[in-house]
Amino acid sequence: MSGLLAGKRLLVTGVITDASIAFSVAKLAQENGAQVVLTGYGRLSLVERIAKRLPEPAPVIELDVSNEEHLAGLADKVREHVDGLDGVVHSIGFAPQSCLGGGFLDAPWADVATALQVSTYSYKSLAVAALPLMSAGGAVVGLTFDATKAWPVYDWMGVAKAGLESASRYLALHLGKQGIRSNLVAAGPLRTIAAKSIPGFDQFEDAWTQRAPLGWSLTDSEPAARACLALLSDWFPATTGEIVHVDGGYHAIGA
Ligand SMILES: NC(=O)c1ccc[n+]([C@@H]2O[C@H](COP(=O)([O-])OP(=O)(O)OC[C@H]3O[C@@H](n4cnc5c(N)ncnc54)[C@H](O)[C@@H]3O)[C@@H](O)[C@H]2O)c1
Repeated sequence: MSGLLAGKRLLVTGVITDASIAFSVAKLAQENGAQVVLTGYGRLSLVERIAKRLPEPAPVIELDVSNEEHLAGLADKVREHVDGLDGVVHSIGFAPQSCLGGGFLDAPWADVATALQVSTYSYKSLAVAALPLMSAGGAVVGLTFDATKAWPVYDWMGVAKAGLESASRYLALHLGKQGIRSNLVAAGPLRTIAAKSIPGFDQFEDAWTQRAPLGWSLTDSEPAARACLALLSDWFPATTGEIVHVDGGYHAIGA
């Protein structure tokens, strides 16, 4: 087998359509020699249908990251398909509508708590659930949206992402001794289901397409996926707690 991820066994969460960043990651990973197991949330038959569009049909395991039973049973279910894991991809985000679109001052705690559980805490939960399969070390990679700034309409999802960025650094701290790296890719705006659920998302689209130094495609998730592959590969062996921006350079410029 050849390719950047030859022989690697990956668990990829977050596929819901073929526009999902996770779909690009799974596709590129297979094309680069990896064996991929997917997890799906909610509409499992849809995820299974999308999984058949990959170069190699991939098995799909049900996982709601806020469900303790799903998390506790994950390792055994993954073991039915692969004998261990070299990498885990967290491509999961959700916030109730009250948390997005300008409602920052009014969103109730129960909704904020859901956003934080699914989008932030789950990064740790997923890594810990996969840990029994990672005795030889490996890489955990997640997706963020630059949380160093307060964006219009992103609101509590921005807070959740700031927490995710911190959680990734703590995961790096706590899993480093086991040879497990934790890194994030900060992607620019992409037209996925998650993005479409954000009222006013078009403001990001306009800003990026007009100002990103390298230009920016709102429909091409391959650049973000490529960075995920690089971080999952053996080419970042001494990098952990890092955030790689894949945003056409937008983060580097003034407004
Ligand atoms: N689209 C963008 O503009 C953009 C930019 C930067 C970062 N991101 C991040 O990329 C990641 C993937 O999002 P996407 O844009 O590909 O959208 P997407 O809608 O395709 O993927 C989001 C995924 O989260 C899953 N999910 C939601 N709640 C879950 C739960 N309780 N348990 C398990 N899975 C759950 C959904 O099933 C879906 O597969 C997210 O973390 C998102 O915040 C997206």
